[in-house]
Amino acid sequence: MRKVMIMSCFVSLAMCCAVNESSVAQFRYATPADSLKRMLKFGFGRTAGKAEIAAWDIDVRPDGKGLPAGKGDVKTGRLIFVKKCALCHGSGGKETPGVKLLGGALVSDSLSSGREKTIGNYWPYATTLFDYIRRAMPYNLPGSLSNDEVYALSAYLLHANKIIGQTVVLDAVNLPKIVMPARKMFVMDNRTGGKEIR
Ligand code: HEC
Repeated sequence: MRKVMIMSCFVSLAMCCAVNESSVAQFRYATPADSLKRMLKFGFGRTAGKAEIAAWDIDVRPDGKGLPAGKGDVKTGRLIFVKKCALCHGSGGKETPGVKLLGGALVSDSLSSGREKTIGNYWPYATTLFDYIRRAMPYNLPGSLSNDEVYALSAYLLHANKIIGQTVVLDAVNLPKIVMPARKMFVMDNRTGGKEIR
């Protein structure tokens, strides 16, 4: 009787080890093909298409990389601003005494401290304006503006901030060349990854 009990213990221990080993092996050696099999089995997930990736890939870098084709001038920008932006950013992008703007002022008078930080007194790169407006504005309908409209709005706001002249037509070539007044207030991060990083 005793012998039989001991035997059965060994058998169940061996079975237990066998189960554990095989599930560990399965977990460790899963391949991309296994993932695909599971994806098909559960019926969700698929490879993103080119158009879908392009719709998300809209970042514009300080050097202008990522700027799309298109162009826009100050006059057209002013018309669009009145229609689609002034309700939250004030007419002319400025605050009127006694009225709190929902979106804040977009036109600053100078680099002097104590003013609300915005395009003319704080933003180091003009290309950020294009990126920001295209991805985030109008606040209630982001992504609704055409590239030409975004160039025109950028031109209007840069002109309103006294950074470009009234006749400039902005495009992917001249927008990155604009030197913003606040550029000099920023320094490049020259840390090398050594001891100076705490
Ligand atoms: C429904 C209100 C609303 C409308 C319409 C709107 N905005 Fe805005 N905007 C905001 C708000 C709110 C913020 C601040 C968002 C934040 O800080 O996250 C903002 C921020 C901005 C900024 C950044 C300002 C800064 O100095 O940080 C820019 C530039 C801007 N908007 C441009 C535009 C333009 C151009 C339009 C028209 C196409 C527009 N906005 C329409 C509400 C609005």
